[in-house]
Amino acid sequence: TSQASPVSEPATFSDRGEDKYANVNWDELGFGLVPTDYMYIMKCSLNENFSRGELNRYGNIELSPSSGVLNYGQGLFEGLKAYRREDGRLFLFRPEQNALRMKMGAERMCMPSPSVDQFVDAVKQTVIANKRWVPPPGKGSLYIRPLLIGSGPVLGLAPAPDYAFLIYASPVGNYFKEGLSPLNLVVDDEFHRATPGGTGGVKTITNYGPVLKAQTRAKAKGFSDVLFIDAVKKKNLEEVSSCNIFIVKGSVISTPATHGTVLSGITRKSIIEIARDYGYQVEERSVPVDELIDADEVFCTGTAVVVAQVGSITYQGKRFVYKTGAGTVSQRLYLNLTGIQMGLVEDKKGWIVEV
Ligand code: COI
Repeated sequence: TSQASPVSEPATFSDRGEDKYANVNWDELGFGLVPTDYMYIMKCSLNENFSRGELNRYGNIELSPSSGVLNYGQGLFEGLKAYRREDGRLFLFRPEQNALRMKMGAERMCMPSPSVDQFVDAVKQTVIANKRWVPPPGKGSLYIRPLLIGSGPVLGLAPAPDYAFLIYASPVGNYFKEGLSPLNLVVDDEFHRATPGGTGGVKTITNYGPVLKAQTRAKAKGFSDVLFIDAVKKKNLEEVSSCNIFIVKGSVISTPATHGTVLSGITRKSIIEIARDYGYQVEERSVPVDELIDADEVFCTGTAVVVAQVGSITYQGKRFVYKTGAGTVSQRLYLNLTGIQMGLVEDKKGWIVEV
């Protein structure tokens, strides 16, 4: 249940004068939370369907101390972005893919989920209500964070009796403090992100907290982030804390297959399509950590991360260095993807949805 007061009138903002942009230093955006005006909330009970949601003022929500999400981690999140074009129109990138992934995850976590139409409509309403927080073209995007949580009380372990679907948003720039500079990753062979049969392949909130220990340790040693390997053979690449991983060798691009322990990233699948269109051979398979030794390039993909070049990976004390900068495969893919997202490259695939 929410403490925030319902909005009696739909939020509308004119494109004139001071209403157009919120008071934000658009040149300083990173990936920190900038609270915006409105959030979306829709509720339903277990074994029911979501029906009607509403925009509320952005603010804290009230939850039972015994809610399913707080006690047993019954929760999912999503992430997508809205971009502003020069003409002021706002566009989303493949929002129905987030909706479908949330449905799959909800099934795994025994939660009801919004329909694809409900999800996309709610995202659009949230963007429109927070329109003045969408950065100017080229300065970043509005990151949209849908959440699905077991909000009702439980004591014994069971699906919560009630659920809430929430969406909030924040303007963002680059995810890593490195900006667009190459990342220096370290392979962690003590901690693992996911196990077969677990939830690594769906976007549960509980996939992320356990990563913090390895990530904190890596950052304390000066690395940008952690590259996780599989928990069973301790041999194959899985993903980075917040993004998928690709390696490039000649004209072959490889990425770990998503068989349950690796998140099926929407940027990941878009980059695979773009790379194939360019004529690269893209392989989704088991990628042994040994292939890091002689890869030409390594890069990460994710909604938050976009396409991030990896300059080095350290594994068992050895540091492998990769090609970065202009003229690389990852740069070519990055420019095409972001061109489509920002409306600078023709969207031949129907990936772009106007808000
Ligand atoms: C995203 O890329 O949108 C994610 O959900 C990753 C998150 C850890 C920032």
